[in-house]
This record gives sequence, structure tokens and C-alpha cells, in this order.
Amino acid sequence: MDNTTLKGQAALVTGSDSGIGKGVALELAKAGARLVINYAHNHDAADEVVKEITDAGGEAYAHQCDVSHEGEVQAMFQEMYKRYGTIDILVNNSGLQKDSKFIDMTLDQWNTVISVNLTGQFLCAREAAREFIRRGVVEGVSKAAGKIICMSSVHEVIPWGGHVNYATSKGGIMMLMKSMAQELASHKIRVNAIGPGAIQTPINKEAWDTPEALDKLLTLIPYNRIGQPDDIGKLAAWLASDESDYITGVTIFADGGMTLYPGFADNG
Ligand code: BGC
Repeated sequence: MDNTTLKGQAALVTGSDSGIGKGVALELAKAGARLVINYAHNHDAADEVVKEITDAGGEAYAHQCDVSHEGEVQAMFQEMYKRYGTIDILVNNSGLQKDSKFIDMTLDQWNTVISVNLTGQFLCAREAAREFIRRGVVEGVSKAAGKIICMSSVHEVIPWGGHVNYATSKGGIMMLMKSMAQELASHKIRVNAIGPGAIQTPINKEAWDTPEALDKLLTLIPYNRIGQPDDIGKLAAWLASDESDYITGVTIFADGGMTLYPGFADNG
């Protein structure tokens, strides 16, 4: 993937001030896309990402928006159309965890995770799809009228005690992604998901920040290393490119084998 692969394409990555979203934004920028760095709270971190991209000769700006608020999402897309004219690539990445034992989980913990992780993806994808359909395919830009990439997780298939709200949101993302892919394919819109395993980011810090925690985590990863944000970023850039033009409606797991039932590796 060189710096012309996504040239002339406008990309919005939600939650790209840190973690996986930042890794995705940097890789899309390297491939030539113009970026919107969306963030919920951390303005300075978003500015850093913008600076990293523009210092390398790319184009980006930061935009604050809580993806679970319809009005804020619509305003974010309007601003993007003012600045870049349109959208070609949406990466629905914003997500959070509010962990709790099931019987102690509050409605607030449930609602917050479903609103940001699932409803936020719906709201952003709906805006993007409206614009993709309005504009259609632009020759010389991409074979597709638009690409939506939903950040799911291994927990769209691996049940996760202590994280029922989160796993439910990711299972929901899988069906949101597939149903959108089915409905939008005739408009030349491709919709796919990425299912990251354990990626070294702030969301799961307690799972890797001591040698004991990391050893325990690695028992779940046959490939025996924790993932890095650019492992996901490179896959997102490929899914956004015409190299994957015949792929729609699938989740690609990037998890070092976490979904391979590692407990069965030694005869079960
Ligand atoms: C979660 C991480 C977790 C990983 C593997 C991700 O979706 O956000 O906290 O380490 O799945 O379990």
C-alpha cells in the first residue's frame, strides 16, 4: 500500500485520538487519505494525531463529537462536507468498556456501552450511507461508492463474563454490519468489520501492564504476542482500498488466533 492507494479519498475515523482508532487514522493517512480525527474528550491527544499526519505531509483536522448523539454526529458530517466536500471511508471505531459482574451491572453501565459502541455506529453509518448514495461512484477515486468499516472485536463471537454489555454491543455490531452490507451492496457500498483480539492500548491496560498479566493474556493468544494498533490499521487501509473490492459483509479477525479455541491446542 503506497501513499497513492487512497489518494483523493476523505476518511472519518471515530475515536481516533488514541488506541486502535489512532493506529487506523495513521495508516489511512499513509495511504493518502484526508482524515477527520474524531474524539470525545481529549482535544490535546486529537491535535497530536493531526500534527503527526500533517508533519508527514498529510491532511487532517480534529473534530469533537459524542457519536451517541444524533445532532452532534450530523454536525460532524456537515463540517466534513464543508471541508472535504464528501466522505469516501467511514471507520466506526469509537468504543468503551464499563465492566461489571452481571448481577451488579447498572442500567447506566449497560446504556453507556450500547449507546456509544452500537448506536454510535448506526448513527455514523447512516449519515455516511446517505452521502454515498447521493454521490455514487466517482471514477478514478474508487470502484465503490463508499466503504464502511465497523470496529468489532473477538467478542462478537467469544462470550465474555464480566463484560456482558460490551460483548452484546459487539455481537450487535456484527448483525448491524451484515444487514447494512446486504441492503447497501446494490448501491456499490461495501460494509465490513474488523475483529481485533488483544491490542496493546489504554482500553485493556490492566491485561498487559505487568509481566504476570501479560503472561496470563498470552495463554489466550496462540501466536504468542499482543497486537499493536498498526496491525489493525494496515488491515483497515486494505479494507478501505480497491484491493478488497469484492469483499463485503464479513468480519476479519486480527487476533493472533484468539478465536481458535486455544484451550484445545494440546488435545483439549
Ligand atoms: C477488548 C479488550 C480485550 C480484547 C480481548 C477487546 O475487544 O476491548 O479489553 O483485551 O477484546 O479479550
